[in-house]
Parts: sequence; C-alpha cells; structure tokens
Amino acid sequence: MSRRNPFRPTFGASPYHWAGRSLILEEFSEALHGHPGHPSRSMVIDGARGIGKTVLLTELEDLAAQQGWVVLRATGRADAVRTLIDTTIPAKIAELDPPAGRTVTAVQVSGFRVDTELLDAPTPTPTLGTRMRHLLGLLRGTGVLITVDEVQDADPETLSEIALTHQDLVRDDRDVALVMAGLTHGINRLLDLPGTTFLRRARRFELGPLTDADAHAILTATAADSGRPFVGNATDTAVRIARGYPYLVQLVGFLAWNRAGDTITVHDVEAVRQEAVRMMGAQVHAPSLKGVPPAQLDYLRAMAELTDEEVSSAAVAEHLGRRPNEVTDTRGKLLDRGLIEAPAWGRVSFTLPYLAEFLRGDSRPTRVS
Ligand SMILES: Nc1ncnc2c1ncn2[C@@H]1O[C@H](COP(=O)(O)OP(=O)(O)OP(=O)(O)O)[C@@H](O)[C@H]1O
Ligand SMILES: [Mg+2]
Repeated sequence: MSRRNPFRPTFGASPYHWAGRSLILEEFSEALHGHPGHPSRSMVIDGARGIGKTVLLTELEDLAAQQGWVVLRATGRADAVRTLIDTTIPAKIAELDPPAGRTVTAVQVSGFRVDTELLDAPTPTPTLGTRMRHLLGLLRGTGVLITVDEVQDADPETLSEIALTHQDLVRDDRDVALVMAGLTHGINRLLDLPGTTFLRRARRFELGPLTDADAHAILTATAADSGRPFVGNATDTAVRIARGYPYLVQLVGFLAWNRAGDTITVHDVEAVRQEAVRMMGAQVHAPSLKGVPPAQLDYLRAMAELTDEEVSSAAVAEHLGRRPNEVTDTRGKLLDRGLIEAPAWGRVSFTLPYLAEFLRGDSRPTRVS
C-alpha cells in the first residue's frame, strides 16, 4: 500500500485514474484505424482552464503510440517548425532507420581534405513537408501524429505552416493526424486568421465538466488504490464540491487525503472545502480574469451579485443600470472568452465553478475563532 498522495492537482499532470471523454477517445482511435483523410484525424480541442485539455492530449498521444504511430509534439513557438525539421523528425528517422556507418568520409585531393559530401549535388533545404514524407516513408501501416498544446499563445505562422503541411499530406493520402488544444478564447481568435482555414474544418470538441459519475469513479478508485479509501458519504460530498471540474476533483481528493487518517471521511472532505476553493481562486480564477477589460469585469461582478449559477441577461443589464441592448456586446465578448455560457435563450451562467464567490470575495480566508 502506497502512502504517497495519489491525487494530482497539477496542470498537465496525467491523473492516476482516468475517467470521461470517452467519445473523443473512441472517435480518435477509430480515426487512426480508418483511412487517410478520416475527418477525426484532425481535431481541435478547446475549453476553460483546468478542464483537462493537456491530459486529454497526452491520452490521445498514448492511444496513437499504442497503435504504432509516431508522435511528434510541437510547441507553438516561432521556432517550432525549425525544431521539427532539424531535430525532432530527424531523431525519429534515425530511430527507425539508423544511418549505416559511412565508409569514405574524406578523400585527399592535392593535399586538401575534401568532404565527399561537398562533392555531391546540393540537396534542397528540407521543409516540414519533405521531412514528414521521409518519416512516413519508413512506416508500414501506421502514421505520424502531431500535437500542439496551448494553441491560444501560439505563433500564427507556425500554426498555419503545420496546418498547411498537414493538409497537403492528407491530400496525398498519407497517414497523418493533427490535434491542437487550447483555451476557447484563443482558439476562436486563431481560427479567424487567414491560413488557418483548414483548422476550421477540423473536428472540434469543447470540453465541458465531467459527469458526477466520472468524478465519483476518479475519486473512489484513486483513493482506494492508495489504501486510504473514502467512507460513508465522503465521495458524494467531494463530487458535490468539485462540480465536475477536473482540477477540483484532483484538488479536493488531494487535500482530503492529506488530512485523513486510515480512511477519508465526510468530515475530512468538508474541512478542505474552503482551502480548495481558495486555491482554485489563485490557480484558476485570477489567471482567467487577467486582461479582461473593465466593462466585462463589471458585467461579471453584476452577475455574481445576482447569482451563483444562472440569471437572465435582462436582470444583469438592469443591475448595471443599462438597457439590455447596451450590454449585448459585452455579453458576447464574455461568451467568446468562454467565461460565461448561455444555458438557455436570454440567460447567462458562469463557466468556471466558484467564480461568482471569487468575484464577490467570499473565498478570502475567514478568521477562525
Ligand atoms: N479525464 C480526467 N480524469 C481525471 N483527472 C483529470 C481528467 N482531466 C483532467 N484531469 C485533472 O485535472 C487537472 C487539469 O488538467 P489539465 O492540466 O489537462 O487542464 P488544462 O485544460 O490543460 O488546463 P490549462 O488550460 O491551464 O492548460 C489535472 O490535475 C488533471 O490530472
Ligand atoms: Mg493545459
């Protein structure tokens, strides 16, 4: 029995127990088995901070690797394509096709050492396309997956070059897949740029909360495997606090596990609620609100004063002392940012759990008597 905390409330850290997202995993697996040009071989995954984009990307990479595909991780930085061409792809090629030892590396010509390579015809500068074709030529019955995370911060030219090369290879019936992930706001902005047209046609998934059943399964299995199980109604309480938000599932599990004895009780879970919400504020809410213009913040605060969940947009406008049509634009921008949702016509709700509390300042540390 391990006595190390098995929960992983860390961005990008794959959980010990996975649950949910099965539609995407199945569809991708099917696509890999399918023919070149299968629509789900090009995917764009978006969603709020901490909703599980990075670990899903890792899961998709694992799926591909299990099926014998070569996985290339690209950053979105301006030098990403160069890195693929000069380093990442050549390394994979060398793995699959180790270069034979060169027999003659140099010859003597009237006293000078001349590399034989210099005497060869000049080779064209490799591009992402030629490198990919070389790599693909070494594979039989499998293909190459490229993944890009944090697309919202990516260099548009890098993305468009990767996307265009992918599109070109798809047209030539090559076995390639491309999966990109990022925050909703950034992705929407990106898909509006010229040169990323192709990505607009990719299979798009927006990650929402996990179901309560999935959250329950993650908590139960993770704790039980570590030898410190949830008992009584403790799991249900943790599920209620986590509200399907994957980062909170890990965080509540982590904090409760730490303070528990041999078993995790309802009391342990309730005792960490405030700490979990506070950490959520620091790790998720604060960074999500960074750079949000004042008018949008005012809108969010007005919402928070009216509700924890959902409210009519007319009521928000009234609370702001404005006519509904005067705040339509602000509302649209917040929807686009993925900070609010429209659960029904004329209604708005917060995407991130506990954002209302955060905006009201409810979760500041309270004094304990
Ligand atoms: N399906 C899942 N099952 C169990 N745990 C999950 C699942 N998805 C995400 N998590 C957990 O939730 C947390 C956040 O996941 P992740 O880092 O992938 O989020 P993200 O969407 O990439 O966030 P960011 O926008 O900040 O990059 C991690 O602790 C991760 O282990
Ligand atoms: Mg991430």
